[in-house]
Amino acid sequence: MFALAHLSDPHLAGWSVDRPAALANKRITGWLSWRLNRHKIHLARVLDLMQADMAEQPIDHVAVTGDLVNISLPQEFEGAARWLRTLGPADKVTVIPGNHDAYVAVENDEGLGRWRDYMTDLAWERGEGTPPADSFPFVRRIGPLALIGLSSALPTAPFFASGTLGSAQLSALRDILAQLGSEGAFRVVLIHHPPLYGKGHRRKALTDAHAFGEVVRAAGAELVLHGHMHTASLGHIGDTPVIGVPSASALRWHHKDASAYNVYRIARADGGWRLTVEIRGLTNTEDRFAPSGSYELTIPAARH
Ligand SMILES: [Fe+2]
Ligand SMILES: [Fe+2]
Repeated sequence: MFALAHLSDPHLAGWSVDRPAALANKRITGWLSWRLNRHKIHLARVLDLMQADMAEQPIDHVAVTGDLVNISLPQEFEGAARWLRTLGPADKVTVIPGNHDAYVAVENDEGLGRWRDYMTDLAWERGEGTPPADSFPFVRRIGPLALIGLSSALPTAPFFASGTLGSAQLSALRDILAQLGSEGAFRVVLIHHPPLYGKGHRRKALTDAHAFGEVVRAAGAELVLHGHMHTASLGHIGDTPVIGVPSASALRWHHKDASAYNVYRIARADGGWRLTVEIRGLTNTEDRFAPSGSYELTIPAARH
């Protein structure tokens, strides 16, 4: 039995704009949205409660599916690196970027590079040498799992929150999934944008969701995890469950769910896998996390 926790979209609070020039681009729209609404919804207090609850659970590894920051300020990347260390060491926590982590183009050393250890293959698999910057997909073998990290995050025009994997990443993904399937791994694909075709408004969607679906159908995957929608969801691509979680820091707001995270318990069963999903969410009293649902899925063994 392996326990993988999944949280997403923490949109870390506690940042400010010290240099107005930093807003002289798309960041201005994100800053306005934060000042108007988001600062009331995404609370450090909620995230702290989640982490306190996680610390009580038997969890082997944590996956974070993007949107750690808000408008991609260098100080936000630094703050998020500090936050990641409170979540766990890099060999216990795996991160992929979301669209807010690529809100505008930022130098790697000042941006995503600060989370590099959490967003790359594990050093013991790589051998010597420094991890490559911005290299996706990356693969981490942990127990029976293979975590495959993708990046659908790239800077877009103002008011756009869409994502794209691109043909190079998709074709590498196809090879990786096929190889890991033949090795019998439980393949968990991490992607920020919901990869279900037609899901989400065009401004927020994964532009190559259809191609992604074809790769997953052809090469196989046991589980796909995503964020971005700030709601809890379960869908399928063929036999593969596709699961989304709400924002880790959020209070309930309009059609968005209050904060919750999932714990996936993965065990071999009848030649395939049994996946138990426990949802742990912020209670209505907003002062603690508690179980808020669970379900079980049977996943057939890889075809090869
Ligand atoms: Fe988000
Ligand atoms: Fe997002």
